Formats: sequence, structure tokens, C-alpha cells
Amino acid sequence: MILVLNGPNLRRLGTREPDVYGAETFEDLAALCRDTGRALGQHVEVRQTDDEAELIGWIHEAIDGRIPVVLNPAAFTHYSYAVRDAIAQRTAPLVEVHISNPAAREEFRHTSVVAGVASGTIAGFGLQSYVLALHAIAEMKPTS
Ligand code: DQA
Repeated sequence: MILVLNGPNLRRLGTREPDVYGAETFEDLAALCRDTGRALGQHVEVRQTDDEAELIGWIHEAIDGRIPVVLNPAAFTHYSYAVRDAIAQRTAPLVEVHISNPAAREEFRHTSVVAGVASGTIAGFGLQSYVLALHAIAEMKPTS
């Protein structure tokens, strides 16, 4: 089991700034993640929330269940110390992903407060960032 967690505004993929995030919808993303999981022999559950508290609750659930996570924290990436502190307690791999490449965008996106407590970060490959992250998790030791 791998949880794919998505932060604010990501349910609006497809209509949200398509020049930056592409034309595919959140449902397309969810199907891509589930299909990738199936090919890797892993059950993948995809969730999205605009609510910081709900996202932190899901991270706690992953920690308590030792469940690996692919996380796109969206804008929380850049300022949420609460999300960072939740991830710092992790007991299994957590890969930070971004559809766009935040390092090539506005200055405020250059900082990730999450990166330092993630296993690693994959950014800038569109929806393929999630596919790469799922492959990375499948290759990793359960405790990395
Ligand atoms: C994002 C990049 C963030 O800067 C932005 O706030 C998002 C999406 C991405 O996937 O490219 O909402 O995480």
C-alpha cells in the first residue's frame, strides 16, 4: 500500500493554469497513479485536500501504519512548518513531488520547508513526477 497525498488546488488540475500544470485532470492523475501501482504490485490510494489539518491527519495515519507516501504538498511546501513537523515523524519513505519545477518559478517557490524531512524530491516532470516517485518508493528500503 502506498498513499499518494495532494495538497490545495490540485483537484482543479486540467482547468488550473494549464500552461503550468498541463491539461490532464485530477482523475487522470489518480488513474495514472493506480495503474503505476498495479504494474508495481502495490495498492495505491490517491487523496486530495485543501485543508492543512486534514493533510496532517493523513500523514499521521501513514506514520502510524508505516505506510510509504508520495506527497505533493502544493503551496504548503513553501511555508507549512506544521506539515514539515508531521513528516519529520515518518517511519517509512516519503517522496515529495511537484508537477512543475518550483526552482524555475517565482522566488517564493524556491524554498521547500518539506524537502529536508522527505526521503527525496522529484519535480518538473509533469504527472510523470508521480510515476517516478512511485518507482522510487518501490525500490527503497522500508525505513529510508
Ligand atoms: C506544485 C508547485 C507549488 O509551488 C504550487 O503551490 C502548487 C503545485 C506543483 O506540483 O508543481 O500548488 O506543488
